[in-house]
Amino acid sequence: MLDIINEHIKKVESFTADSIDKIEEFRIKYLGRKGMLVQLFDEFKTIPAEQKREYGQKLNELKNKLTEKINLLKAGMTSGQTPSSDIDLTMPAETVTIGTRHPLSIVRNEILEIFSRIGFIISEGPEIEDDWHVFSALNFPKEHPARDMQDSFFIQKEPDILLRTHTSSVQVRVMEKQKPPIRTISPGRVYRNEAISARAHCLFHQVEGLYIDENVSFADLKQDLLYFVQEMFGKDTKIRLRPSFFPFTEPSGEMDISCKLCGSKGCKICKHTGWVEIMGCGMVDPNVLEFNNIDSTKYTGYAFGMGIERITMLKYQIDDIRLFFENDVRFLQQFESCW
Ligand code: DAH
Repeated sequence: MLDIINEHIKKVESFTADSIDKIEEFRIKYLGRKGMLVQLFDEFKTIPAEQKREYGQKLNELKNKLTEKINLLKAGMTSGQTPSSDIDLTMPAETVTIGTRHPLSIVRNEILEIFSRIGFIISEGPEIEDDWHVFSALNFPKEHPARDMQDSFFIQKEPDILLRTHTSSVQVRVMEKQKPPIRTISPGRVYRNEAISARAHCLFHQVEGLYIDENVSFADLKQDLLYFVQEMFGKDTKIRLRPSFFPFTEPSGEMDISCKLCGSKGCKICKHTGWVEIMGCGMVDPNVLEFNNIDSTKYTGYAFGMGIERITMLKYQIDDIRLFFENDVRFLQQFESCW
């Protein structure tokens, strides 16, 4: 009988099948109610007691080999054979919800990436600031309206602690720690005490740029901003600088880009001028350099600041700033997936 069992073990080991029916046939032949294994176990009862151990082990080996083989065949794992399976591969998979990046994050990353290509290093500062970093060190006069409760969110008066109204405060933090050459770009959230509307919000995001070295000129500013704008909005984008005023730059300017929406023909977005304003900029006021212990006879610099919401609205033709803060998935799902 041992020889018979060994024979079966060999047969089981070499058995292959290319269809689920053949596997089932094989299973019934060995493991069915009237199958080979049942017969062998019946015969086993007649074996003398002293041989039972040896026979029992062999029979168990056969049984284990059988179940192993059948499982392997069913899983389509035998030597290159792929038996048809009863798994329905056409069944719809469970849906996995994948998040999308927030449009403001997409545009912030793009801005930082463009400036880092021309040597700008990212720096950040706190959102809760003191008077010195937001106003005084940036040459704001004492009576400037931004220093008023009406325009800024104060946490404490005298000494004044407030939510920063612009990322220009990071300029001061960088100048405190580092001496020229400085070439830095500072993204961050800013706060202003404004009525919320389609065009204004009490919180928004800015990116600030600062470049200080010997012989930095207005031509550098213009050329670097042109590079940025053409990388961001396309090579055919034009820029226009208009004189303006900021306490921390002299001369100061506001920069417009040619309207992408109407091809400068005139539309609602550009208020029929063909141009849209995207940032403030200028040459760092020598007072600001001196306040921060930088020799203004040796060094000059330029600075610029832009709102990320504004750039994003232009890039994606979004007409209401409030959409960025409402977290409506129908809006957010339209942007680049995280994967
Ligand atoms: N801080 C200004 C604002 O919030 C923007 C700005 C204008 C930043 C001119 C600058 C600059 O660095 O040179 O409106």
